Amino acid sequence: MVNKCRTVGSKWVKTKVLLLNKELRKFVPETRVYSQTNLLHMLNKHKMVYIKPIHGSFGQGVIRVEKNDKYRYQAGQTAKSFGTFQGLFAALSKAKLNRSYLVQQGIHLLTHQKRIFDTRIMVQKNPHNTWEATGYIGRVAHPRKIVTNFHNSGKPLPLELLLGSYLKSQKKSDYIQSLRHLGYRIATHYQKSYPGFKEIGVDIGIDKHLKPWVLEVNTAPDPFIFNQLKNKKMFYKVLRYARANGRFLRVKRK
Ligand SMILES: Nc1ncnc2c1ncn2[C@@H]1O[C@H](COP(=O)(O)OP(=O)(O)O)[C@@H](O)[C@H]1O
Ligand SMILES: [Mg+2]
Repeated sequence: MVNKCRTVGSKWVKTKVLLLNKELRKFVPETRVYSQTNLLHMLNKHKMVYIKPIHGSFGQGVIRVEKNDKYRYQAGQTAKSFGTFQGLFAALSKAKLNRSYLVQQGIHLLTHQKRIFDTRIMVQKNPHNTWEATGYIGRVAHPRKIVTNFHNSGKPLPLELLLGSYLKSQKKSDYIQSLRHLGYRIATHYQKSYPGFKEIGVDIGIDKHLKPWVLEVNTAPDPFIFNQLKNKKMFYKVLRYARANGRFLRVKRK
């Protein structure tokens, strides 16, 4: 299947394309289309799952569900508990937007000052028309939220800072390098099915064993998040490449 489009909205389509690659598959949390049966199965297996709209963005509509002695879900800053799966499922049906969803194995993300964080790796076609990992940034969630998105009160910070309590000096740089390389591999893989792609932004969650997990691949990634860093070097490059790729062009006056 070869498709000329520059972007793909459906998280389900993007996940299935990633799963075609046996090396990259290892980094994808188990994902299914949301249904009562799939939710029950995934909760029994993983104990913590994320439910997210197939066509969502900005962390909107994302729900975390947990099973311990009780069933619990959190959406935004609201959390609710239930004694039975039926109770949980009925409440979720009310809380969910009227759209299709995925249910995904939940990753226990690393934390910074008790707030979860994940990372965004920006990979772009460069002027030589080859893929380059041009940007990387960490995103810390609001203390009472379960998503890290900047448009959902998340705070973008240098990844070096956030990884600082887990890795030091050379190990830390090597680790960041490996995340960038993972982003690069993902871009070249997508290119086979989607030769029109010019930029991707990979959301990578890191678990307590420092294993990276691909939470989402964005095909129209926001360059401006990098403008949140004090050091503007990355931002300038990301924006320069985005413009060379035909995005965010200034409107010319006559
Ligand atoms: N499987 C998961 N495990 C842990 N956290 C997740 C998972 N999926 C999503 N998240 C959190 O929710 C955020 C939003 O989810 P994402 O799939 O990126 O959708 P969106 O398009 O809304 O950004 C992620 O950046 C991450 O913080
Ligand atoms: Mg995202």
